[in-house]
Amino acid sequence: MFSRFKKDTPGARPATQGTSAPAAAPADKAAFAPRAQAQAPVQQRAAAEAIAADKEKKRKERLTELKVEIHKRLLEDLNLSAIETATEQSLRGEIAALATEALDDMSVALNKEDRLALTQELYDEVMGLGPLEPLLKDETINDILVNGPKRIFIERAGKLELSDVTFRDERHLLRIIDKIVSAVGRRVDESNPYCDARLTDGSRFNCMIPPIAVDGSLVSIRKFKKDKLRIEDLVRFGAFTEEMAAYLQAAVSCRLNIVVSGGTGSGKTTTLNALSSFIDNHERVLTIEDTAELQLQQVHVGRMESRPANVEGKGAVSQRDCLRNALRMRPDRIIVGETRGEEVIDMLQAMNTGHDGSMTTIHANNPRDAISRLENMVAMAGIEMPLKAVRSQIASAVNLMVQASRLQDGTRRMTSVTEITGMEGEVISMQEVFRFERMGVEPSGKIIGRFNATGIRSAYSDRFRQWGFDLPASIYEPIG
Ligand SMILES: Nc1ncnc2c1ncn2[C@@H]1O[C@H](COP(=O)(O)OP(=O)(O)OP(=O)(O)O)[C@@H](O)[C@H]1O
Ligand SMILES: [Mg+2]
Repeated sequence: MFSRFKKDTPGARPATQGTSAPAAAPADKAAFAPRAQAQAPVQQRAAAEAIAADKEKKRKERLTELKVEIHKRLLEDLNLSAIETATEQSLRGEIAALATEALDDMSVALNKEDRLALTQELYDEVMGLGPLEPLLKDETINDILVNGPKRIFIERAGKLELSDVTFRDERHLLRIIDKIVSAVGRRVDESNPYCDARLTDGSRFNCMIPPIAVDGSLVSIRKFKKDKLRIEDLVRFGAFTEEMAAYLQAAVSCRLNIVVSGGTGSGKTTTLNALSSFIDNHERVLTIEDTAELQLQQVHVGRMESRPANVEGKGAVSQRDCLRNALRMRPDRIIVGETRGEEVIDMLQAMNTGHDGSMTTIHANNPRDAISRLENMVAMAGIEMPLKAVRSQIASAVNLMVQASRLQDGTRRMTSVTEITGMEGEVISMQEVFRFERMGVEPSGKIIGRFNATGIRSAYSDRFRQWGFDLPASIYEPIG
C-alpha cells in the first residue's frame, strides 16, 4: 500500500480473530419490512420501533468496537514522525485507506455515512483530542465539562446540558488528558493529580484525575473565542445599554482604575476585553494572566503569562513576579486578567502610583463583596496593616466596580456599575450609577428586567468633561 506514513513492516497482518461481522442485512429481508410494518397494529409497531432502537444501539456499539480495533492498528502502522509534516488532506486520505484495509481484513462492510464518521473519529483520535474534537469545533459551545468518561456536559447560551458524546472508558479519557498536558510539558499522575494547561487553539484547560477525582477524571475547558465579543455585541445581546457603554468609554478613556467583579463564568474576562477596546492606540499596555485569554486590539501590547512550577517543583513565575517586572517595563496601563492572590498588593500600588487606567477582574458576587475580597487578599498576602489603612489604599486605587452576572436564565448582564468615591470614617463609600432591575420571571424561565440609572450623577463628571467626554445629564436620569 501507499505510504510515507505507514511504517515499513513487512508481511500482511492476519485478519483479526473474533471481530469479523456479517455484512449488512440481506436486501430482500429489508424489502419486506415496510409493508409488514404498515399492517401491524400499534403494539407491533412499538415493538418494531424498540427493535430498531436496539439495532441502532448495537450499530453504535459495533462502530465503537471497530474504532478501537482500527485505532490500535493505526497507532501501530502509522509512521508518527511523517505525520508531523503531513498535510491534513493527505493524512485524512491515509487514515481512510488504512481504515478500509483494516475493515477488509475484518470482513466488515460499512455504508458510506458510517465509513465517513469512522474516518473522522479516527482522525480526531490520532491528530486531535478524540471525542472532544467535535465539541471544540462547535462554535456555539462555551464550556466543556467532563465528569468522568461517560458524562460530558456543555454550556450553550449560558445553560449547561449533557452532551451525547462519551469516552470509551477512563483509560481513554486519561490518554487524551495526557496528550494535552504533555504537549505543554506537564504531567499528571498519582503524585501530581491536577494541572492547568492551554490547548493549541488557546482554550483554557484544567484537569484533575483519580483518586482525587472520585468518579473518574474531571476536565474543564473554557473555549477560546477567536472573535471576542465587542462592546457592540454585548450591547446587542443585552449585557448593558448604549448609555452604559458611553459611560464606560468615558471611564476607560479617562483612565479610571476599573475592577470587573463577577462569579465564575459570568463574563468577567469578556467584559475586561471589551472595555480594553476603549484604550487609546498610543498607550503601552501590559497584560498579565495565568492563562492568556485577553485579546487586545491595540498596537502596543505586551502579553505575559504566569507559569507554574515544573515537575521538579522549579521555575514557577507567578502573576506577582510578572507584575513586579511589568512595573519596570514602562507601562501606561497594566491589566491583570484575574487578581486572586498576593499580586493584589502590587496591583493596588500600581493603581496608586501613576499607572492610572489599570484594570483587573475579581471573583465576587457584588461590588461590596469585591471590596471584602480585596481586603482579604491583602491580609492573606501577609501584609500587617490596620484595616482602615488597607481600605484607604483600596479606595484611592480603585475608581470603578463593574459587576458581571450570569442570571438563572443563562443571560449574562452587567448588573451594577458602581463608583468608589472615598472613605467615610472606616468605611469605603460607593455610589451605584447604573443597575439591572429584576422585575419578574416569564413562565419560560426568562428573567424580565431592565437597566436603569440610579439618578446619581457620576463623581467623575468633571474629569470626563475635561477629557472631552461630555456625557448628557440624561444618561443619569432613571426611567419609570
Ligand atoms: N454578554 C454575553 N453574552 C453572551 N455570551 C457571553 C457574554 N459574556 C460572556 N459570554 C461568554 O461566556 C463565556 C464565559 O465568559 P468569560 O470567560 O468572560 O467568563 P469569566 O467570568 O471570565 O469566567 P471565569 O470565572 O471562568 O474566568 C465565554 O464563552 C463568553 O464568550
Ligand atoms: Mg475569566
